[in-house]
Amino acid sequence: MDSFKLSSLFSVEGKVALVTGGSRGIGLMIAKGYIANGAKVYISSRKSSVCEQVAEELSQYGECIAIPANLATNEGREKLVAGIKEREEKLDILVNNAGAAWGAPFNEFPEKGYDRTFDLNVKSLFLLTRDLIDLLEAAASFEDPARVINIGSIDGLSVPTMDNFPYAASKAAVHHFTRVLAAELGRRYITVNAIAPGPFESQMTKFFLDTDEKRAEVAKACPVGRTGQPEDMAGIAIYLASRAASYVNGAVIPVDGGIIINKRGDTF
Ligand SMILES: NC(=O)c1ccc[n+]([C@@H]2O[C@H](COP(=O)([O-])OP(=O)(O)OC[C@H]3O[C@@H](n4cnc5c(N)ncnc54)[C@H](OP(=O)(O)O)[C@@H]3O)[C@@H](O)[C@H]2O)c1
Repeated sequence: MDSFKLSSLFSVEGKVALVTGGSRGIGLMIAKGYIANGAKVYISSRKSSVCEQVAEELSQYGECIAIPANLATNEGREKLVAGIKEREEKLDILVNNAGAAWGAPFNEFPEKGYDRTFDLNVKSLFLLTRDLIDLLEAAASFEDPARVINIGSIDGLSVPTMDNFPYAASKAAVHHFTRVLAAELGRRYITVNAIAPGPFESQMTKFFLDTDEKRAEVAKACPVGRTGQPEDMAGIAIYLASRAASYVNGAVIPVDGGIIINKRGDTF
């Protein structure tokens, strides 16, 4: 019966994880969940002072190491990959979370906004996974696969009301990359799944979640009547990284309180 116990089935203890964009928002929620449960976590983001300070703060609860890098560039990605390879012989969990959004009316949508969104959300996710494949393979086994967890969005599952056209399409690409890579990497005992978050408070969502009134407006569109909380995100990320999810591959899991299936309430 021991293999059915939570402590065995949902454990991430002793695993090595990399969370891109782990310095704040959703990446930080995931990093906290792993660290609180005994994983060693690398976080990466552009602003080195913030990345290092957050790693230092999290280090009081477990092992957290900062490797600052701009993942939208080849140099940044190579720096991160080299930094991990210097320190680790295997990587159990890769969370491709770093992402950017750009909003503008359709008629004047700038090419720069398109490129910034796709370069980080889609291209860097693919290339980083490619460049870390040997470390992921080193961690992978038939009984306990290595994990790639991509952060998509409900905006990639249904058409959003906001003017973020390339962002929504980039997140649909993240979801399909998840399936395409799951088929390829599953054979190597690496599962690839995506989390499609609904609204969680972060810098990215500050513009529509910065007051109680706006939060209440968004909550009205949600069957469970609220926005996402850090533990909601940590919970799904822990599950996907644990033995409990070792037979889940190529899934895109909405974590949105039911917003995308809701046709009975308001939209936001
Ligand atoms: N919050 C939500 O409600 C929500 C909903 C659906 C999907 N998502 C997705 O969740 C992910 C995280 O979003 P968030 O809301 O937590 O956003 P956020 O608060 O803006 O955090 C983004 C993180 O990514 C880092 N980052 C940004 N550009 C980077 C780059 N070029 N290279 C490396 N790191 C970079 C940021 O740090 P630096 O600025 O220092 O680089 C930060 O750590 C994104 O993929 C987003 O699309 C969020």
